[in-house]
Amino acid sequence: MCGIVGHLGPQNSVDVVIEGLKRLEYRGYDSAGVSFISSDNELVVYKKKGEIVNLITELEGKDVKARSSIGHTRWATHGGVNDENAHPHAEPERGISMVHNGIIENAGEIREDLTSRGHKFKSETDSECFLRLVIFHLDEGLHIKDAIIASFKRIQGHSAFVILYKETDEIYAIKNGAPLVCGINEINSEVFVSSDPYALAGMANKIYFPENQVLCHLSPSNQHLLNFYELDGEKSTRYMSKKQNLDHDPASKGDYDHYMLKEIFEQPELIRSLTQFYFSGEGRASLEAALDLPRANIHITACGTAFYAGIVIKDFIEKENRISCKLEVASEFRYRNPVLSKDELALFISQSGETADTLAAQQLCKDYGVKTLSIVNTEGSTLYRDCDANLLIRAGVEIGVASTKAFTQQALTGYLFSQVIKEGGFTDSVKNALSAKLALLAERIDNLLAREEEIREIAKSIYQYNGFFFTGRGAYFPIALEGALKLKEIAYVHAEGYAAGELKHGPIALIDDQKVNVALVGTELFEKTVSNIQEIKARDGVIVSIGPRDNKELKEISDYYFGVELEGLGDLAPLCLNVVNQLLSYHIAKLLGTDIDKPRNLAKSVTVE
Ligand code: G6P
Repeated sequence: MCGIVGHLGPQNSVDVVIEGLKRLEYRGYDSAGVSFISSDNELVVYKKKGEIVNLITELEGKDVKARSSIGHTRWATHGGVNDENAHPHAEPERGISMVHNGIIENAGEIREDLTSRGHKFKSETDSECFLRLVIFHLDEGLHIKDAIIASFKRIQGHSAFVILYKETDEIYAIKNGAPLVCGINEINSEVFVSSDPYALAGMANKIYFPENQVLCHLSPSNQHLLNFYELDGEKSTRYMSKKQNLDHDPASKGDYDHYMLKEIFEQPELIRSLTQFYFSGEGRASLEAALDLPRANIHITACGTAFYAGIVIKDFIEKENRISCKLEVASEFRYRNPVLSKDELALFISQSGETADTLAAQQLCKDYGVKTLSIVNTEGSTLYRDCDANLLIRAGVEIGVASTKAFTQQALTGYLFSQVIKEGGFTDSVKNALSAKLALLAERIDNLLAREEEIREIAKSIYQYNGFFFTGRGAYFPIALEGALKLKEIAYVHAEGYAAGELKHGPIALIDDQKVNVALVGTELFEKTVSNIQEIKARDGVIVSIGPRDNKELKEISDYYFGVELEGLGDLAPLCLNVVNQLLSYHIAKLLGTDIDKPRNLAKSVTVE
């Protein structure tokens, strides 16, 4: 989805903004642009359809030294993908440019009104309405700050805006329901704004998360680089701040060919550190806060991969605690007038903490007076700030659009939550047992990762088939759903996840010798799952089985068999098989030559409905 970066400071601002935009490429976009105040004091704009490299080519040979600039990566919503609709939108003669994330819901009415007053629009976007509104208010004689506030009050919907103003060489930013962060580098007297703190990693040593309707003012004054105002013009304290380590460089993919592969390989280490965080570290207080919330029933809501992690967590909680969990995708939940009651808990799972539908579902529960808990990766995200309690998954930055390590960490955070409910607290024996369990899982995943080549060989044998059915029973069913989603996302092939016993109620009609069944087999319901494999085999389907190691029966009925050591893992065993699915999808996609880290049409963080 769209990304914003703004910078003001002594080093070349355009370089900083371009670097920030490159870091936001992973979110998905279709055009990019930058606006800055040139050395001869002109406000200029360069914007190009397509990848950032097109914008960089456009900038070559131009005077691109500036002290302040703003930039944007656009993921089209209103208006086609072309240079005109790309951001920033600007009126260079008035010395003003702006970028926007989100949707202006009353754009039609504003456009009509301003057009009738003689204002000329240059693009088809809803975003440009905001620029025209600001100019309209400047024409009325308002100061830039008041013009922005007046314009902001007129628009409806969830948005974040960043405005560059030449006259005072300042940047303003404001948001409602869309992500926005500011940052400061106190050593270099630099100030930043972005839609994603990741863009500022290693650049800003202090990060600020303004609340909705707080005007952020980035100014070149060495004393007051960053100020916050309420809409009535008074100084605001409605923001959260945190220190950030400048050495941190999450942007490197090291020796890996793709971020996705790097992130798959990070999993054992992340798993090992999770129990430490929750039992001996900062996480303990958050887990205690989560335990204090009412939970007569639990409503679990999420999107995409996080939703599948929700199915895993529902199974953990129901099995261990007999607390009934209702699960629904956020885009349905928010419009369904769900039955909620104040003694229940609403649990939201999200990597980004910025997914529009998940946020809307959370707001709905909050409005009903239901306590809300998140299982979330991004500290300081909107979801994190809006929930009553938060359980961080500690996955670090996830760049690959297809979620891998976040899924594992989400499921395990839910597992720890469920176990602590069951045990009624944090005794040493609970801590030791859970640490040992997660350490064993990490070790088994390490062993699997060391066998990557075997998985690649299977991928080589099957990557040209034209349909994939991932099947599993019980706890392996959500793993089948997630496996199919991974393959679709990055390899662009048709894949479906199915409960193994359900395949014969329809989809089996599609099975022939060109279809692959990736069968996920656990030790529970083993014989029944094998029967389901036989049904597909009898119809000439190609069988890839991933299941208990050294299993003769499974090996014999499969065209390709990958055995995994599942003993001792109990309920966590399915998470091991999920890692095999991740590597299988990765290698199929690599053989097919797709854009693995930034698959077509997808966005990492879906901040619009
Ligand atoms: C997008 C991403 C998915 C992700 C989903 C939910 O569709 O492409 O990978 O699972 O959003 O995102 P969240 O940040 O809420 O986990």
